[in-house]
Amino acid sequence: MRPFVIAANWKMHKGPAEAVTYLKEFVSKAKDLPGRNKVIFFVPAVDLWVVQQTLRDSQTGWGAQNCHFETHGAFTGENSPAVIAELLTPYTLVGHSERRAIFGETDAMMAKKVRALHDAGVEPMLCVGETLQERDAGKTGDVIRHQLREGLKLRDPAKPFMIAYEPVWAIGTGKVATPVQANEAHSLLRAELSSIGGEDLAKKTAILYGGSVKPENSAEIAAQSEVDGFLVGGASLQVESFLPLAKTEKR
Ligand code: PGA
Repeated sequence: MRPFVIAANWKMHKGPAEAVTYLKEFVSKAKDLPGRNKVIFFVPAVDLWVVQQTLRDSQTGWGAQNCHFETHGAFTGENSPAVIAELLTPYTLVGHSERRAIFGETDAMMAKKVRALHDAGVEPMLCVGETLQERDAGKTGDVIRHQLREGLKLRDPAKPFMIAYEPVWAIGTGKVATPVQANEAHSLLRAELSSIGGEDLAKKTAILYGGSVKPENSAEIAAQSEVDGFLVGGASLQVESFLPLAKTEKR
């Protein structure tokens, strides 16, 4: 059975002090999660050290929000996958739509990042998703299948990864995909995974939904057969809104 993964994307919010206060409260209140649930906090890179110190003896995971695809070199301002691994970070996001849209990151870069993380021993979570224009033009399937295939091109077939489907028009907008829209996209992605790496890969890979997930809309989305968790931005910033999501019972 696939895990149900509830991931927080803090984006550029919370410094080390606030992160520690939040995480201590979260861990103390999250002792009775359903056995299938796995929680991951994607935090700003500058928080990784204290977050690791705070979470290392808990059941809660943590990750970086981005990395470079080289291990070292003249890349001012970037973070090395090897250093992320040295900080004992188990996971890293790759290809969030904000990285693609604001920082011009391409599918070719995603592919190299996935490979660099695999080589470093860190599990990538590759984000894919269509814009509203692409959806309106009937191109959703083509766009997300292409992002998936290209992003996984250089992966190490022996190493795990996760996928987050995040329709760009639903991120931070309050517009959530309908449960049916989410399930359709997840089914397409799972079929594509099968054609990339076989039935087994498709069966074991968690595909999360992201885009305006809140306690009020989460149950319906979680009930969809192909949805294996959430990637949560806004609602992850407060323990009181993230905790109920972490406690979601997958049926
Ligand atoms: P949101 O962000 O939950 O605020 O829409 C999701 C994300 O960007 O990962």
